[in-house]
Amino acid sequence: MSTLFSNIASLVTNTDGEFAQPAFVVEAGKIAWVGELDSAPAADSRVDLEHKTVIPGFVDSHNHLIFAGDRAAEFSARTQGQPYSAGGINYTVEQTRSASNEELRHNAAALVTEGLTSGTTTVEIKSGYGLSVADEVRSLQIAREFTEETTFLGAHVVPAEYKNAPEDYVAMVCGPMLDAVAPHSKWIDVFCDRGAFSPDQTRQILKAGIAKGLLPRLHANQLEPGEGIKVGVELGAASVDHISHFEDSDIAALAKSNTVATFLPGAEFSTRSKYPDARPMFEAGINVAIASDCNPGSSFTTNMPLMIALAVREMFFTPEQALWSATKGGALALCRTDVGYLAIGARADFSILSSNSYLHLAYRPGVNLIEQVWRNGNQVS
Ligand code: NIG
Ligand code: FE
Repeated sequence: MSTLFSNIASLVTNTDGEFAQPAFVVEAGKIAWVGELDSAPAADSRVDLEHKTVIPGFVDSHNHLIFAGDRAAEFSARTQGQPYSAGGINYTVEQTRSASNEELRHNAAALVTEGLTSGTTTVEIKSGYGLSVADEVRSLQIAREFTEETTFLGAHVVPAEYKNAPEDYVAMVCGPMLDAVAPHSKWIDVFCDRGAFSPDQTRQILKAGIAKGLLPRLHANQLEPGEGIKVGVELGAASVDHISHFEDSDIAALAKSNTVATFLPGAEFSTRSKYPDARPMFEAGINVAIASDCNPGSSFTTNMPLMIALAVREMFFTPEQALWSATKGGALALCRTDVGYLAIGARADFSILSSNSYLHLAYRPGVNLIEQVWRNGNQVS
């Protein structure tokens, strides 16, 4: 069964192809053909897109969706001047540990569906609110029910029971915890920042993960300047995330690497922090991604169109750079070559916008423009 999609106002492919009257064919869950309508091959059926815009599905490469409870009171306190700190994570750890698997699964499903309806077709999910062997294992098992892109974040913060023995916790993360979670994880991540883990602890944990076959990525330079970005580059991380603080030497290190620079504008929004200016990253030719960082503490949203609007308004992305970063950039951050673009052989993951241009994603902030979402060639929303 092949389907021809036609009458498209504009088609964003993230490849060189630009078409006056774009059309594409989907077959067996993949893009089988893209081009000008008048040279389209015969297809079994046809979908008229009524002069709307087609974009690749969003690849949301950074999320923490396995948790219970929320931290609305902490958010409210920030509106009255309380600063954000890594310490709040332990509240969610308590709530998560006492939740059932069903509750955690139900919460994650609701967030994955919420993201899907706003155009996210590939999602990464981290553990990091269990912080015991059993709770990290079940977090990753539940995450795997939703995505292949699972990330072990045992090194999120030091849990309360190890407060006076942080090195013992690091040893546990690198030893029995890593052994137990490895079968359920593609990635290993560390929160390298004030109140979490030091650069040396980060190296130790990421190296242990790499030795077990996990791929490295990390939370770097969110709360203060530091060595996180350089540690990521040094260890070949696929992505360094947050990067709210960086200097010229960080840009130089990234420019010489394949590491993606992932901005998380939802975290600046929710923590009332200063937004970084992404322009030096683009000027240096670094691959950039944006992600929603959905989590109960610092960014409780799954909405990638909002991330695009914030990246454009607050971080000096062009609308084109923001959309690329939310799709192809996210795919690069997850080392995925099958998603984030629309060309022959790519997965047929795309959204239909109710507008005649993708520019409206930034131009009409907060308006739901995602009319349809297709994944693997099936309409899922
Ligand atoms: O990516 N920065 C570390 N981890 C999360 C926040 C977690 C929390 O506050 O619960 C983040 O922003
Ligand atoms: Fe995060």
